[in-house]
Amino acid sequence: MSNYSISVFDPDESRLNTLAYEFEMKGIKVTTARRIEQIDKSEMYILDISFGLENVERLSKTGSLIAVTADEIKLEDWQKLLKSEIPVFKHPVSVNSIIEGFKDYFNKPIEDIAENTQRDPLAHLLEDKETLPSKNIVDMNGNGNPKEEISVTKTRQRKLQSFKQVIVSVYSPKGGVGKTTLSMNFAAMCAEHPMVESVCLIDADRQYGNVMHTLGIKSKANLADFCRNINSLSSWEEIKQNLYRQSDKFYILPNPPSPIESLDVRGSEFASNLSVLKEYFDVIIVDMAPQLDEVSNAALKHSDIIFLVTTTDSPTNQSVKSFIKDYEKILKLDSSKLHLVVNRVLKKAGITVKDIRGAFPNVEFVGAIKEDGMIQNSANKRIFHTLKFGNSEMTQIIETMMGFINLYSDDNRRGVQLSKGGLLRMFRKRTREEIAYD
Ligand SMILES: Nc1ncnc2c1ncn2[C@@H]1O[C@H](COP(=O)(O)OP(=O)(O)OP(=O)(O)O)[C@@H](O)[C@H]1O
Ligand SMILES: [Mg+2]
Repeated sequence: MSNYSISVFDPDESRLNTLAYEFEMKGIKVTTARRIEQIDKSEMYILDISFGLENVERLSKTGSLIAVTADEIKLEDWQKLLKSEIPVFKHPVSVNSIIEGFKDYFNKPIEDIAENTQRDPLAHLLEDKETLPSKNIVDMNGNGNPKEEISVTKTRQRKLQSFKQVIVSVYSPKGGVGKTTLSMNFAAMCAEHPMVESVCLIDADRQYGNVMHTLGIKSKANLADFCRNINSLSSWEEIKQNLYRQSDKFYILPNPPSPIESLDVRGSEFASNLSVLKEYFDVIIVDMAPQLDEVSNAALKHSDIIFLVTTTDSPTNQSVKSFIKDYEKILKLDSSKLHLVVNRVLKKAGITVKDIRGAFPNVEFVGAIKEDGMIQNSANKRIFHTLKFGNSEMTQIIETMMGFINLYSDDNRRGVQLSKGGLLRMFRKRTREEIAYD
C-alpha cells in the first residue's frame, strides 16, 4: 500500500496518465481526476492551473500540500501563488522535480494515510479549515488535534521552499573573471533571504583562494584541517569549530593557509565533506579554482547547479568552450547544470554578449555584468557590494542567479518564464542599456 495520499487533477488525459504512470514506476500510487468533482480528498494535490486560482487558494487554506502545473501563467497569478508558497511546475511535469520540491513529504511518508482517503465532492474538499470536520484533516501526529495538524502541515509546506538544499559551484577555466566576487556576493545575498536558514561558502581555490583576503579576515579554520578533523560522525559543535562564522546564517570554509599544505586535500575527502555540510546548510556555494583538478572535479560532480563565468575576451571564451566539451565528454557530467554568466563586460571589446550567447547555444544564459569600478571599490573596502548597492547590475544578476535555485525576490522588475518540467523560474526584464550592450 502506498504511504502517500496524492491527487492529480488535469483535464488532459494523456498528461494525467503519464504522470500517474511515472509515479507508479516509483512505487507511489496517485489518484487522478479529469474533472474537479472527481478529485479525491488527499494530503497533497497536483493541480493543473485550470483548477482555478481561487480554488487553489481556498484549498491551500486547509493546510494541504499543493503543486500547480501549467504551460503558462500570468505574472500576477504566479506572484499570488508565490505568496501562498505554492510552487508551479511546467508541463510536462517531471515526477523527480515534484519529489525534489516536496522532499520533506516524500522523505517522511505518513503511515496509513491512504486509509483516510475518501471520495469527496469539490464543495466538501474546499471547505474552510474552521468548518472542516477533524476526521477529514490528515492526522500527522495521531493525536487528532486539528489546529496542531494544520499548523504542522503548513510548516511542512513552508519547509518545502526554505529547505530546498542545494550545492552551487562557481567556475571558470580562466582567472580574474569574477568567480570569487560572484560567489561571495551570492552567498551573502542568499544568507539575507528569508527562506534560507544557513549558507556555507567554501573557498575551494585550494592554493590561492582569496575569500578571506577579500574580507580582510584571518581565520584558523581551513579546508585542509576540515578534511583532517571532520567526518560523517562529527557533531555540529566540531564542524562549527572548523568553519569561520561570518554571521548567524553565513559560515565560510576558507582555503588552507599555504599552497603546499593545500595539496593534501584529496577530491574524495572534499566530496565526503560536501555531504557532511549538506546535513547542516541549505545553500552550499563552492568558489572554485580556475583549473580542473580532483577537488574541482568533485565540486562539479556534486553540484546541483554550476555558474560558468566568462568575459568579453576571446581566449576566455575559447577556454570555456574546451571546458564545456570536456565537461560533457570526459567528465560525463550533465550540461543542463551549466549556467552562463558574462562578467566584466567591456563596451569596446569587439565581442558582444550576444556573440557569446551565440557561441554557447546549449548553455542556459543567466545575465551579463559590465565592468564596474565600484565592484573593485567594494572589494577594496571589504564590503559585500550587493548588500550595499541594492540596484547595481551585479546585485540584479545575482538575484537572477538566486532564481535558478528557487529563491525569488518579490520584485516588479521581473518577468516570468517557466522552465521545462521544473519549477517556475524568474527572469529579470532587461534594461535598455543592457540591450544596447548586445
Ligand atoms: N564586473 C566587474 N567589474 C569590475 N571589476 C570586477 C568585476 N567583477 C570582478 N571584478 C574585480 O576583478 C578582480 C578579480 O575578481 P575575482 O577575484 O572575483 O576573480 P576570480 O575569477 O575569482 O579570480 P581567480 O581565478 O584568481 O580566483 C577583483 O579585483 C574584483 O573586484
Ligand atoms: Mg577566485
